[in-house]
Amino acid sequence: MIVLGIETSCDETGVALYNTTPWEESKPAYLGILGQGLHSQIAMHRDYGGVVPELASRDHIRRVLPLLEQSLTQSGLKLTNIDAVAFTQGPGLAGALLVGSAFAKALAQGLQVPSIGIHHLEGHLLSPLLGETAPQFPFIALLVSGGHTQLMKVSGIGQYELLGETLDDAAGEAFDKTAKLLGLDYPGGAAISKLAERGRVGIFDLPKPMLHSGDLDFSFSGLKTAVLNQVKKFNEKKIVDATEVAQFHADLARSFVDSVVAVLMSKAAKALKETGCKHLVLAGGVGANVQLRTALNELSKKNGFAVHYPPLELCTDNGVMIAFAGALRMLAENNNSTRSGAFDIKPRWDLASHHLR
Ligand code: KG4
Ligand code: ZN
Repeated sequence: MIVLGIETSCDETGVALYNTTPWEESKPAYLGILGQGLHSQIAMHRDYGGVVPELASRDHIRRVLPLLEQSLTQSGLKLTNIDAVAFTQGPGLAGALLVGSAFAKALAQGLQVPSIGIHHLEGHLLSPLLGETAPQFPFIALLVSGGHTQLMKVSGIGQYELLGETLDDAAGEAFDKTAKLLGLDYPGGAAISKLAERGRVGIFDLPKPMLHSGDLDFSFSGLKTAVLNQVKKFNEKKIVDATEVAQFHADLARSFVDSVVAVLMSKAAKALKETGCKHLVLAGGVGANVQLRTALNELSKKNGFAVHYPPLELCTDNGVMIAFAGALRMLAENNNSTRSGAFDIKPRWDLASHHLR
């Protein structure tokens, strides 16, 4: 079965074609990726310091068709080879979701094939199955994106149990807000990570929020305020020496990253211990973070669990993860998908309630 995937939940338009045959023959899942197209709107939103929903929707409209053509060319397939169309149904920006949903439904109707709405986070948390070493069920997923920070127990396709989540800012949001405070462009996650590499360890005593809360929840808004206070204190000194300013930024970035990594690691370790799971999956945009990956690799050796990552290019939003999640859901639900023409997007949507049909 060939599944077309369409992602338009935020500021990336992603389109991909996935063939389920390798998966059905127990071969590496990534062999099923036939073609993909991705366009990031980051440059367009940068001047505004964040995503402008209306601009995002309009750009998805412009990009989706050329990206589909690109994916078809790359895979050597024709529209008529598509057996099902998967699209991100939620959560995300309503206007942006509507573009992908309308496109997917119209195409599916025209081709007389089923369409299937996919939860964006399901796409993220299944994407490590596309890596070189796939995790085994049950596993713990640490989902760290721009909009979400969650720990989930994944017992199988469609079997997700929420163990803990952020009470305020998402980890990626904390990265982006901190980056802004340090004068870096949106979205600053990757830039903060790079800056932190030049920073010295332990210069600032930033909080590690909820490290000892006893549960699996997170909170990152206080950390961002602590960074802001340090920036204010530094600015009061009116230091103009560029080297000194650069070192301050790097040291603060370092302390910030170390705090986030310490909390994420500790809670992930606790989730593994409490559930007895031996596999941890890191997913979502912040999963591209080098410091977090290094720390988790070390912890996995020490505590005796396996850690799995999606291929680096599949950490941030993309169409492949939606095509793949759509394919696995179609197989698990025996192709029991919808042919309804209703767009029914879900800008807010709880993944743990999204059972198989
Ligand atoms: O999963 P994603 O592409 O979009 C959402 O679904 O939100 O995640 C985007 C987030 C942004 O906040 C971005 O700053 C962050 O992932 N991010 C990173 C890195 N690369 C992307 N954060 C830390 N380190 C990185 N290397
Ligand atoms: Zn995402």
